[in-house]
Amino acid sequence: MTRALPYIACTGLLLLLAACTGEQSALAPGGVEATAVAHLFWVMLVGAGMIWTGVMAVVLYAGRFKRTIHSHETGGRLILWGGAVFPVVVLTLLLAYGLWLMPSIRPIAEAGDGLRVEVSGERFWWRVRYLPKDGGAPIETANDIRLPAGERVEFVLTSPDVIHSFWIPPLGGKMDMIPGRTNRLTLEAERPGSYRGVCAEFCGTSHALMAFTVDVMEGPAFDTWLAAQAQPAQAAGGPGHDVFLANGCASCHTIRGTEANGVIGPDLTHLADRPTLAAGIIPNDPGSLARLIREPGVVKPDIHMPAYGMLADPDVDALVAYLGELR
Ligand code: CUA
Repeated sequence: MTRALPYIACTGLLLLLAACTGEQSALAPGGVEATAVAHLFWVMLVGAGMIWTGVMAVVLYAGRFKRTIHSHETGGRLILWGGAVFPVVVLTLLLAYGLWLMPSIRPIAEAGDGLRVEVSGERFWWRVRYLPKDGGAPIETANDIRLPAGERVEFVLTSPDVIHSFWIPPLGGKMDMIPGRTNRLTLEAERPGSYRGVCAEFCGTSHALMAFTVDVMEGPAFDTWLAAQAQPAQAAGGPGHDVFLANGCASCHTIRGTEANGVIGPDLTHLADRPTLAAGIIPNDPGSLARLIREPGVVKPDIHMPAYGMLADPDVDALVAYLGELR
């Protein structure tokens, strides 16, 4: 068994390292702040590894090769240099390096005017509001954040009831969303691609089911997307729209360009554009949407949305078809 230990340890380490890539890894950075944090992690890991190796070497030396007792003077010198001077120097260097990294994580007001995105942690989803640079009206969406590559973006973070924490591991963060307080987090995404953000503070039953997608796009593609998001819904009326209004969906959801103007639940104006439903939990396809309408509390326990299991199948089909047209 003891002989197999190194192999087991190596296999475990490889498996762990294999998890260090992907859309939700802080060790596969796609932005300026996350790169700084990843560098700090590797510096600390390598440094800690070297110190650990050194300490183990001293332990081995003392235990196996040098079993005589040191003189009082040698012991005192060892404690002074190894126990006081060395840790003070290492920790001071580490502190200086950490402080040197910090200015890159500053509010946007110090970095000039840029894009601002308000994000509010809800139960259990993310309300996202883009504040255009030209001072136009805010553009609301949910659980789907798109960012321009190479541009500093300021996130304005709040919560109406309990504490959540906003974290996009490959881009940076995390930062708490605290009721009655506004926190600001500035991030600069560099590498276009798809990432995943999560809630990093226990906030209730479905805390672990509170994620969001982050798509980093080239500047012109982002501008086109934001301009499209500012438009009202393109879907025509029809039976699905009637079912939506007749069952009170409009009391909680907004579909811009229609009578639906509820503000309790996510804005659905461009729902069909979003890659996922229920805050990053299920794919955005007709089957998942029908399930979310019929049994939201099963998909995501303890959410505000009531179940619509009493709707007849043709009504659900019409509703799903209508929502699927909201581009
Ligand atoms: Cu929101 Cu945990």
